[in-house]
Amino acid sequence: MNEIVASAKALHAGQLVAFPTETVYGLGADAENEKAVARIYEAKGRPADHPLIVHIASKDQISEWATTVPKYAVELADTYWPGPMTLILERSQIAKDFVTGGQDSVGLRVPNHPVALELLQEFMKLGGRGVAAPSANRFGKVSPTTAKAVQDELGSYLEPGDVILDGGNSDVGIESTIIDCRAASPKVLRPGAITVEMIEQATGLTLDKSGSNLRVSGALESHYAPAARVVLDAQALPGDGFIAMSNVESPEGVIRLASPASLDEYAKVLYRSLREADERSIIRVVVWQPTGDGLAIAIRDRLRRASDKS
Ligand code: TXA
Ligand code: MG
Repeated sequence: MNEIVASAKALHAGQLVAFPTETVYGLGADAENEKAVARIYEAKGRPADHPLIVHIASKDQISEWATTVPKYAVELADTYWPGPMTLILERSQIAKDFVTGGQDSVGLRVPNHPVALELLQEFMKLGGRGVAAPSANRFGKVSPTTAKAVQDELGSYLEPGDVILDGGNSDVGIESTIIDCRAASPKVLRPGAITVEMIEQATGLTLDKSGSNLRVSGALESHYAPAARVVLDAQALPGDGFIAMSNVESPEGVIRLASPASLDEYAKVLYRSLREADERSIIRVVVWQPTGDGLAIAIRDRLRRASDKS
């Protein structure tokens, strides 16, 4: 049997399936199966009141999971799905407390990765309606962008019958943009590859940039952190790991972990480089942040959370 078809069956039977998406790897379960979803929280070591994103095969399924869908949310889905964007909408009956963390909203995303899309389509053929999936890492740690990273993080928490699907390196490299679609205009809760400019362009609206008190675990101050100490924009010393754009020369004696030539590449290699620092038992990583808008905002957001605040 095709591995993806077998994985869809595993999901349907209540097993966990880690799968590639274009952002990062997700740890999936049938979003309507309370026991299966509970196992995600166990495997991640994640508090139960943190909501999960429900992954769907196409925008046609929005109306199954959400009730009120503003026109701008439809425009965003039309423009950027499949893609690195999660929409927060008023939930329907099938979005239960065990997926939404008890909130009246649900997060929906159509991922843009051939393996993920085929998995979701095969799961639908079996009667499934959505796959709940957080990033496939232990709570608070760096999201995985390869199947090997998932195995390293969660392998010992999976059971026989669970699956890790290998779909190569995640192309985007950082988590989706999360957009709250429950007010008159959209609000970004977590920046990502779908930028403020792109949202304003697709909707013709000006974004509400005020704060939010929704529970978004990615919005916790310390998150996405490796074991190594991450220090931003400091002078790197011999023995330090070092990440900076390719036009920055390596200071004497540092261990250069990444030299991205563009913002796209910076996002793509960031988590992989932080993992490599841990694999090489590097104690301190100095990171020079990218400047500018667009994707640089999302990269700086993740770096700030990964970094040492003491
Ligand atoms: O790119 C991504 O979004 C990846 C891939 C696997 O799709 N997923 C991901 O999931 O990053 P996770 O659980 O690590 O982060 C999703 C964030 C969480 O911080 C969660 O709190 C928020 O989405 N979220 C989900 N549903 C929500 C809701 N109804 N209201 C507010 N925040 C929500
Ligand atoms: Mg996560």
